[in-house]
Amino acid sequence: MRTPYVAGNWKMNLDRRAARDLAVAVREHAVSGVDVGLFPAMVHLDEVTRATAGSHVKVGGQNCSDEQEGAFTGEVSARMLKDIGATVALIGHSERRHVYGESDEFIARKVRKALEDGLEVMLCVGETIEERRDGRTEAVCKAQLISGLEGIDAAALARVSVAYEPVWAIGTGETASPEQAGAVHSYLRGVLSGAFGEDHAAAMRILYGGSVKPTNAAELMAVPDIDGALVGGASLRPELFLPIIDAAS
Ligand code: PGA
Repeated sequence: MRTPYVAGNWKMNLDRRAARDLAVAVREHAVSGVDVGLFPAMVHLDEVTRATAGSHVKVGGQNCSDEQEGAFTGEVSARMLKDIGATVALIGHSERRHVYGESDEFIARKVRKALEDGLEVMLCVGETIEERRDGRTEAVCKAQLISGLEGIDAAALARVSVAYEPVWAIGTGETASPEQAGAVHSYLRGVLSGAFGEDHAAAMRILYGGSVKPTNAAELMAVPDIDGALVGGASLRPELFLPIIDAAS
């Protein structure tokens, strides 16, 4: 019942022409029954929304301000994202949490703002290797999830997807096994069920992210609670990203 969802997080990569060419390659590769998303750098959003206009590809910002407008140097608001044709905001990515020190509270404010202003949200959660070794994976992911969705009503929840991205698997080449990822995904769905009820939890998509490649995508996405993939490095190359989309169908 959940449509698989594969999204590419381009991070701080590509120039304008490369971003457009990659967006066109993804647009031309429509696979029925799979939702596809792209998160280019902010400066490439306009180019990428134009290149994918009218297609099945959703485009989103890699971040989004918790504020509406005003004296917030360097920030981009949800309304600005919408105005340029983006429909999604990626919020709480581990690089925002760990490199830029974004707190759970700050991330929750961004989620609320993005939803209030009509965007969809992809909320990222995930534990560090130390937290996993200490047996705190579930506690950390639950706290990030519950806090990130605080104050969200059930209707808005339909516009939220979750990405479980173990920090130790991001950009490292080390992937969670299907068993490791599946265990966290089903745990998180249980948490969602407790917070919002079984029907809403069953409808929500939980993507896996962390060194997803064509060679591991199919086995990860075959796990019943893994509804797709958030792809970093491999999303920069069509010969790697398009087969991951295929693996989701
Ligand atoms: P990766 O990044 O696929 O390069 O590990 C995933 C992400 O950061 O979303």
